[in-house]
Amino acid sequence: MFDLSDDLVAVRDMARDFARSEVLPGASARDRSHAFPAELVARLAELGLLGVFIPTEYGGSGLDILAYVLALEEICYADAGVGVIMSVQNSLASWPILAFGTEAQKRAYLPRMASGAAIGCYALTEPAAGSDAGAQRTRATKTATGWRLDGTKMWITNGPQAAIAVTYGNLDVEARHRGVCAFIVESSFPGFQVGKVEEKMGIRCSSTSELIYDGMEVPAENLLGEERGGFKIAMATLDGGRIGIAAQALGIAQRALDLAVAHARGRTTFGKSIADHQAIQWKIADMKTRIESARLLTWRAAWMKGAGQRASLECSMAKLAASETANFCAYEAVQIFGGYGYSVEYEVERLYRDARITTLYEGTSEIQRLVISKSVLG
Ligand code: CAA
Repeated sequence: MFDLSDDLVAVRDMARDFARSEVLPGASARDRSHAFPAELVARLAELGLLGVFIPTEYGGSGLDILAYVLALEEICYADAGVGVIMSVQNSLASWPILAFGTEAQKRAYLPRMASGAAIGCYALTEPAAGSDAGAQRTRATKTATGWRLDGTKMWITNGPQAAIAVTYGNLDVEARHRGVCAFIVESSFPGFQVGKVEEKMGIRCSSTSELIYDGMEVPAENLLGEERGGFKIAMATLDGGRIGIAAQALGIAQRALDLAVAHARGRTTFGKSIADHQAIQWKIADMKTRIESARLLTWRAAWMKGAGQRASLECSMAKLAASETANFCAYEAVQIFGGYGYSVEYEVERLYRDARITTLYEGTSEIQRLVISKSVLG
């Protein structure tokens, strides 16, 4: 697989046109206002980008995960904040329902998510369960009609807007990950509340918040997958989510490279273009090589996940490589811009801040290395 099919190129080009004409122009203003881009999210839905791999029978675009990755990179090239909204909707909220839901659950939720009528989120992280995701303390208690959830989640992307939250609760805290159950929660269920909304370094037009579950009743039919089977759903979902963050990171990295190249061609020092200085040429070469390497890892992981294969190793390698590359490229772009790069008037300043999250969420680089080394060493 060293070339894209005509269909994949068409999806990528459609996303590219939309991203550059409609998303890029307002990116800087949204970064400053922190405003959730509701109109752009509606446009993403119209273009089929909120349900890229949801089958058409459930209202989605019926494409594969590679198509999703190609489109997402283009959106993130323009604005990684808009991109993460799309990424969470597809990878973290819709995918587990598609992969583990009953027919009734798929029919009830996927069309609303693909159409953008319902924004989704993925509620796993807790104040004391971040990297150690198995330490879930949100209590899931059985009741006569289903379940009751009590606890607090944090760092939840799309939390304030979410109508649907794939939420993890623990039936047996002592059993750690073996007690975890997954639920499809609607924000209209009594006992659900959005807590503190975070003010962030980057990806500022996306919203990140606490979610509070205070004796929230969940109907029995909203258990996702098997009782005590939630942790594996969470991990399999994160495998795919990591491909999405890899695509996001690639978008940031590619934008940083393109801006750096344009600046290097136009800026003169010591009587010649800075692109003619070897110090700059080497930076451009390293940026390009790292982006292309990470992109191939990301495409392969997407292809494997789309083919239904377990791809934890490949997803973690893609995420590690792409997120470290985004940070590297944003750093080097600022360096090439010199003092201009430190000014909020230049886009590379925003890229530098936006890139920073990619080595943190959906598993830090250290967690990716843990998954990779465990796969290699056993
Ligand atoms: N797919 C399916 N099953 C998996 C799996 C996967 N990818 N990974 C692990 N499992 C299974 C294991 O086989 C094991 O099964 P058994 O109980 O049958 O043996 C079980 O899950 C437990 O696995 P581990 O022993 O490996 O679990 P662990 O407690 O050591 O944790 C970990 C492993 C990789 C560190 C995991 O906790 C992890 O990924 N942590 C990071 C969490 C993370 O990425 N959080 C981000 C949250 S989302 C977010 O960022 C917010 C947002 O809105 C964007």
